[in-house]
Amino acid sequence: MQDLLADETKRRACGVAPRPPARTEVTRRERMLRALQCLPVDRPPVWLMRQAGRCLQEYRALREKYSFRQLIRTPELAAEVTLQPVRRFQFDAAIIFSDILVVPEALGQGFSFREGGGVEMDHVLRDRNDLRRLNTVGITDRLQYVASAIRRVKSELGPDTALLGFAGSPWTLASFMLEGGSAPAQTKALQLFRRDRALFDSLSEELTLAVIEFLRLQITAGVDAIQIFDSLGGLLPAEDFEEASGRWMRTIVAGLGEQVPVIVYSKGARNWKSLLQTGAQAIGIDHEIDLAEAKQQLPATVAIQGNLDPGLLANAEPRQVAAETGRLLELMRGRDGYIFNLGHGVPPDAKMENLEALAGAVQNFA
Ligand code: CP3
Repeated sequence: MQDLLADETKRRACGVAPRPPARTEVTRRERMLRALQCLPVDRPPVWLMRQAGRCLQEYRALREKYSFRQLIRTPELAAEVTLQPVRRFQFDAAIIFSDILVVPEALGQGFSFREGGGVEMDHVLRDRNDLRRLNTVGITDRLQYVASAIRRVKSELGPDTALLGFAGSPWTLASFMLEGGSAPAQTKALQLFRRDRALFDSLSEELTLAVIEFLRLQITAGVDAIQIFDSLGGLLPAEDFEEASGRWMRTIVAGLGEQVPVIVYSKGARNWKSLLQTGAQAIGIDHEIDLAEAKQQLPATVAIQGNLDPGLLANAEPRQVAAETGRLLELMRGRDGYIFNLGHGVPPDAKMENLEALAGAVQNFA
């Protein structure tokens, strides 16, 4: 201390400008929240979509004993799976372990997984009668297990790591519900949008209200920010995006009333105006677009998240992953409001050494 003071006195005496104050230490949670507000940070925060799950051996070990449904419905297990990737990679944010399809399930349309991959809804939503049969009353009661899992994660995670909640966008949920599950080309939702707009709008409205209630439940339980997954946004022709997806996400963001920041991730959508109009604090960018272009298209007041190609995690070598991570970080240098992430979810065959290379490259970026 004495030496430092003497040093500073000498510097002043010589007419040298005083040292800038030492970089204030921020917690990982603060780093994430500051980036979401487009405030300066020491380095971009990092978390990965689908960071929990099949890529981790500790997840696969639990899956030998429990079904996916048991994992997400049992708060202790959901909390454990949420924390696994954070323990391993010290990500700045955890994302609650759940699924976008818990909302259709709470409405009365359950889901299961197919043997060869993909998801299957218990029945297909076809007409107005099916819509009427959805049980919209008290859906938060049926989703209490998510709130319990969030509270559990919060107490285990402590105050230094951010916790994200999430939901699917009405458009993406409607697509699964109308299609009856994953399909090579999901066309039913767009067909309904074109054929019977009134029915499409009724369904979207029900889903919008359900998602708002569900996200409020998550906020009350303690999440720091929300991501809306509009994973099928890219299925929409540009001219239909606003009416079929954008406006419903805007209603959701407005319905949350700025309680916590919202990230809108719309895979494949390029409707910047519509995406900005949602009022989201951050826009997630997929890997099919050059991040430089997204940076150019979006104003400095909105944070950007993305967009490393997830395929690299399975197919490349660690030094390539580190190099590509470094390239994106350099590209965004000086742009306050940047959150490092992939362009889509971590693939199940991602290599651990690649995830380590990615996390290390961001965490050591100076
Ligand atoms: O990001 C995270 O780590 C949090 C957990 C999370 C899961 N699904 C867990 C999961 C999140 C955020 C999701 C979102 C989700 N679920 C989306 C949007 C994001 C995206 O990837 O586009 C969608 C479309 C779904 C619906 C869904 N759930 C599908 C199509 C599948 C895949 C089926 C398959 O066989 O690939 C799931 C299953 C699922 N969701 C798994 C996990 C870890 C795999 C479950 C398992 O087999 O253990």
